[in-house]
Amino acid sequence: MSEPIRFYFRGAVHEVQGADTTQTVLQHLREDLHCTGTKEGCAEGDCGACTVVVGSLVDGKVELKAVNSCIQLTPTLDGKALFTVEDLQQPNGDLHPVQQALVECHGSQCGFCTPGFAMSLWGMYLKVEGRTPERKEIDDCLSGNLCRCTGYRPIIDAAKRMVELPAVSFDTTGLADQLQALKRDKLAVYAANGQTFYAPRTLAELSQLRAEYPAATLLAGSTDVGLWITKQMRVLTDIIYLGHVEEMQYMKVDGGMVEIGAGVALDEAYAKLCEYYPAELSELRQRFASKPIRNAGTLGGNVANGSPIGDSMPWMIAVGSEVVLHSEAGDRVLPMDAFYLDYMKKDMRPGEFVRAMRVPLPRANVVFRTYKLAKRFDQDISAVCAAYAFELDGDKVKNARICYGGMAGTPKRAAQAEAALNGRVWDEEALLDAIAALAQDYAPLTDMRASATYRMRTAQNLLRRFWLETRIDAPLANTDVNAFAA
Ligand code: FAD
Ligand code: FES
Ligand code: FES
Repeated sequence: MSEPIRFYFRGAVHEVQGADTTQTVLQHLREDLHCTGTKEGCAEGDCGACTVVVGSLVDGKVELKAVNSCIQLTPTLDGKALFTVEDLQQPNGDLHPVQQALVECHGSQCGFCTPGFAMSLWGMYLKVEGRTPERKEIDDCLSGNLCRCTGYRPIIDAAKRMVELPAVSFDTTGLADQLQALKRDKLAVYAANGQTFYAPRTLAELSQLRAEYPAATLLAGSTDVGLWITKQMRVLTDIIYLGHVEEMQYMKVDGGMVEIGAGVALDEAYAKLCEYYPAELSELRQRFASKPIRNAGTLGGNVANGSPIGDSMPWMIAVGSEVVLHSEAGDRVLPMDAFYLDYMKKDMRPGEFVRAMRVPLPRANVVFRTYKLAKRFDQDISAVCAAYAFELDGDKVKNARICYGGMAGTPKRAAQAEAALNGRVWDEEALLDAIAALAQDYAPLTDMRASATYRMRTAQNLLRRFWLETRIDAPLANTDVNAFAA
């Protein structure tokens, strides 16, 4: 008999048995529990109508994060707490300040997007603890919520107004006790309707499962895998969930590298990386998907998925990062550029998975930038993502590392352009040779995001932008787009 999925919901422990292992949290809410406040818009993590807040216990403390319930799977809730828009109303029937502020500021018209906005705002309400959030914080909090009729100004007003209304507290201590009681310390297996969901707790359990079930799908934050289910209708018979393996949820600095466990959420991983590369990575962090996607998705998932248009790989490869693979045999460390073999094909042997990534710390003689080109600022996949990390020796390029996403079947270094630069003075003549060499390095595709011509032209122009910002004689200040957004 399968173990039930148990999570904290509406003030009590809620148990699920018999639901498909690939059932989404949104389906469970709407179809099984008939809690229809949470809406379905896109079913692919883009619109935010389905936003809920999930609470988990991390180092004994409650962490509450807004996520897209349309791409999260119900079994991942085991041991966690789920909050939806129905939880916001106060026991005496009053609206929560978040809801009251939306009413007062006219932040809702048709109302379809409103529950999602309310939950994103609630996540921020708990975090700011009465402080008026800054505009940048509000924009980031709402980066995953789309509204087609109200317009955003009244909703942004509500984000400021909510903290002026009589405060409503939230008992995190009580919730911590509830979650502690739900905590499991060994492998949990949930099975239903011919599908099995394995939730290991340790690296050893995970390695063993990976060896035993080589065809099983590894699931981390579900921001790629969720769409295989909701959009591609793929049937995933066996799933191994990485979200409870604490040994993959760490960050440390060791031997000149920042090491990030594969299970660390994108938002936290990028926050850490921005401590070391604030000028270079802050914009990419903000533009990587949306807050709820970064709350759920992991850096390990981005690297392991290895999409040619993923945003982390170009810059990680450019600065010389490593992938730490793990199996029952132990660790195997690869330079990240050696990990990607062909379109969605990686050097990952049977039984292996990504355990961690290692990113070199900044070095005084290395100039590094990464640039993302997409049709929208927030919540959009790159058409082209460029990264350059040049080791300079005086005015000469000692070691040029150039990597692009969106230009080939994998994130790929520009070997010809690098060769055209190494040993040369970093001047316009060298730049023009490297720009010409990019046409030998890549033969990009035309697709819905961009034409091949656009991709090549922008890849070349981004290299020029890098030169303008780092040229030895008169570098331009880093063009910080946030400066214009203020
Ligand atoms: P999952 O979906 O859980 O897994 C992804 C893949 O990696 C699967 O094949 C899984 O089996 C495998 N996997 C996961 N972890 C491991 C591991 N440790 N070892 C081996 N295999 C593993 N990506 C971008 O780069 N930039 C964007 O701006 C961006 N925007 C997005 C916007 C939306 C709305 C959505 C839905 C996705 C977006 N993505 C974007 C893609 C996605 O968010 C990232 O690729 C994310 O990092 C995936 O991580 P995950 O933890 O959710 O992976
Ligand atoms: Fe659109 Fe979930 S329904 S993000
Ligand atoms: Fe109609 Fe936002 S109020 S979509």
